[in-house]
Amino acid sequence: MAIDFKGLVAIVTGAGGGLGRQHALALAARGAKVLVNDLGGARDGSGGSLTAADAVVAEIRAAGGEAIANGASVTDWEAVQAMVQQAVDTWGRIDIVVNNAGILRDKTFAKMDLADFRLVLDVHLMGAVHCTKAAWPHMVAQNYGRILLTTSSTGLYGNFGQSNYGAAKMALVGLMQTLALEGAKHDIRVNCLAPTAATRMTEGLMPEAVLAALQPQAVVPAMLVLVSRDAPTRTVLCAGAGNVEAAHITLTQGTWIGLDGDAPERLAEQLEQACDRTAEMVPANGSAQGAHEVGRALERLRPA
Ligand code: NAI
Repeated sequence: MAIDFKGLVAIVTGAGGGLGRQHALALAARGAKVLVNDLGGARDGSGGSLTAADAVVAEIRAAGGEAIANGASVTDWEAVQAMVQQAVDTWGRIDIVVNNAGILRDKTFAKMDLADFRLVLDVHLMGAVHCTKAAWPHMVAQNYGRILLTTSSTGLYGNFGQSNYGAAKMALVGLMQTLALEGAKHDIRVNCLAPTAATRMTEGLMPEAVLAALQPQAVVPAMLVLVSRDAPTRTVLCAGAGNVEAAHITLTQGTWIGLDGDAPERLAEQLEQACDRTAEMVPANGSAQGAHEVGRALERLRPA
């Protein structure tokens, strides 16, 4: 069935270029009214101007769509609140937030300044928190919302020189896990997208031939599905070059090491078994993971 967004309002952050621009164009092409946010800064987050967002708005309008521009930095809570209000004042609602804005400040952990660590957390994590938090009460009130958080393979699996970025990106997965639970009763669905695409963010990081295969447009279908009316919730999709995979935070069955003083030595002996991936699962929530452990313990401690 065709995926359409007629009558729905979306905010896409960092939509002046790269993936965000493609996301905004695709949402608008399928009927969404789109607030195109972009600070317009450099890859490292320095500088800023509205020009990039304005150009995307012009593109959407030229194609017959509806869009407005916004130059807020997602790190600025006051400005983000005003941005959500701008969408609500213009179109009366806010249905979709695609948290896409991001920067890089790559260095090995040994050489990284804490200021660069904090800035990357601020843009990726707090930026998404701000935009989601400002839209949330509107979504609760209308019993409908779709939140997309842009994570990364670096967050999920690590990449040399990206400790700040990886920490921020994995924090977004943690944010999704709880927001998906809290949003469920208001039909607010929260998902993560880990894209791989040739943009200025990946310039110099991959060989030219590989970058050529990684059109940003190839990530868009996964975004559209994750914010659609029939979207899943609490799903992490990786997408790039026309392929889509799901990433899961799994739990092994584990091993019983007991409660006595020899437990550390027993764990050292049984570590392989604790990490054995046969029959691993995805707990429904954090409490379910704790319950799995307590259940195991009660089985073992039950008097014969
Ligand atoms: P990009 O650098 O082309 O786009 C990022 C956009 O965010 C820029 O237009 C920039 O002006 C904007 N931005 C930066 N700081 C902002 C702020 N404080 N407030 C508002 N806008 C701000 O990069 P790309 O590749 O399009 O990245 C988009 C998202 O996808 C980012 O979150 C990135 O971390 C993520 N990502 C990209 C991957 C890739 O392969 N390109 C891989 C994994 C994740």
